[in-house]
Amino acid sequence: MKVLGIDIGGSAFKGAPVDTKTGRLLAERHRVEIDSPCSIKTGVAAVREIVRHFNWQGPVGIGFPAIIKNGKIGEVGNLGHCWEQQNGTALFKRATGCPVKMINDADAAGLAEMKFGVGRGRLDTVVLLTFGTGIGSALFFHGQLFPNAELGHIPWKGKPFERFASAAARKRARLEWNQWAERVNVYLGVVERLVSPELIIVGGGVSKKSDLWFKYLKTNAKVVPAKLHNDAGIVGAALAGE
Ligand code: BGC
Repeated sequence: MKVLGIDIGGSAFKGAPVDTKTGRLLAERHRVEIDSPCSIKTGVAAVREIVRHFNWQGPVGIGFPAIIKNGKIGEVGNLGHCWEQQNGTALFKRATGCPVKMINDADAAGLAEMKFGVGRGRLDTVVLLTFGTGIGSALFFHGQLFPNAELGHIPWKGKPFERFASAAARKRARLEWNQWAERVNVYLGVVERLVSPELIIVGGGVSKKSDLWFKYLKTNAKVVPAKLHNDAGIVGAALAGE
């Protein structure tokens, strides 16, 4: 099946048509830059631009950086509070004229890695963490997704952990890779105490630079970079849109 996968993030909306049988992108991804917080008008226009770019008329799957239940948007970390309580699928369906399904962005990346990437065939506890503007998480046991886990929002010193250990936090505080990895170690220690994963898959842009910082990590679980890297969000969104 061919589905247009759209990955909505705090700094860009990215999309591409995906063959959901193979997980392959059928065209080069199209990227629309945005600023966070992002208004609903700007966000809807960005999704419309991606749909028009591919002249798309089929099903659309959207990974969105918030809790998503039955297409309704819950608490939003970085994109902007204006999105909260919106019926996301109705909004994007109206804007594109296409059938739309939505899922949390990290859950989408997790689905893609479990089906086509390093999580393939794993039946034990697997956590995928995406380090970007925030920290996204997807939790699996027996290959089944536990949706909307939001492990990036575990409180740390009165704030969500993502403020302290996301990739954006590294840039904000101008940390060296080893200094940032120390923060990630604190975070992964808490994640391990909570859910005892056997495998931690790291996604987001920093997964491509794993040689710079994985060597500093101290975990019980095996830590591996996402095989699909930044495409995982698009591929997983397409899987959700089937
Ligand atoms: C949101 C999550 C999202 C993550 C990564 C967090 O701020 O609460 O839903 O998965 O950012 O985008």
